[in-house]
Amino acid sequence: MDDTVQLDIQRFNPETGQVPYWQTFEVPAEPGDPVLAALMRVREEQDGSLAFRASCRSGICGSDGMVINGWPRLACKTQISEVQDAHGIIRIQPLFNLPRLKDLVVDQTPFWDKFSAVFPWLMPAVDKPEPEKERRMQMEPDDFQLLSKASDCIFCQICFAACPIVGLDQEFLGPQALIKAYRFEADPRDAGTPTRAPVLDDPEGVWRCRTIFNCTEACPKGIPITRGIQVLKRAMVQEELRR
Ligand code: FES
Repeated sequence: MDDTVQLDIQRFNPETGQVPYWQTFEVPAEPGDPVLAALMRVREEQDGSLAFRASCRSGICGSDGMVINGWPRLACKTQISEVQDAHGIIRIQPLFNLPRLKDLVVDQTPFWDKFSAVFPWLMPAVDKPEPEKERRMQMEPDDFQLLSKASDCIFCQICFAACPIVGLDQEFLGPQALIKAYRFEADPRDAGTPTRAPVLDDPEGVWRCRTIFNCTEACPKGIPITRGIQVLKRAMVQEELRR
């Protein structure tokens, strides 16, 4: 590989009134460098106006989700050698399914609105006596593994951008809100199903998921999102039978 990389970056500045356009940059890079390092080089050495989000550079904060060669990824966890095409080029766009604000920065409001809609917190039963010590989680090891994995979400919005149903239907809750709802619905200490069911057991809730697995494939934390959503669907059927 050459010791430089070509980045084709989709630019957008709402203040100019110009439609999004592609701009090419070439910067020094090693194959093992993350794409984020190359982007930072562009901003530091060639164009200080390039807008993108990033913070931890370690796959923890979830802020640098972007579309790299057509697929949503974290720029800090994607090596240049993984995504360079045969001509040594990497194409970078903002995340799909969210309005763009400037260059690679998107408006996260639709994502957070859906997240908030599923009551994403533990709702313990109010009619049970308070335990003397902690509320114990009693569940099968496999079930706990899945719940624990779902807790790894870093809110990077990559699953949201990878889901074609979110792209078609802006009312759909989307994979992140659903896996977060699953995380609490599956928790034996939680009693929030009657509160969440009207939102989840809805054509725009769990039933809009078409089990395409893009979310699972794209998740940088390896969360089996589709599997969690399937468990949530079963829980909604059981809730319907119980009513
Ligand atoms: S910069 Fe924090 S996850 Fe990439």
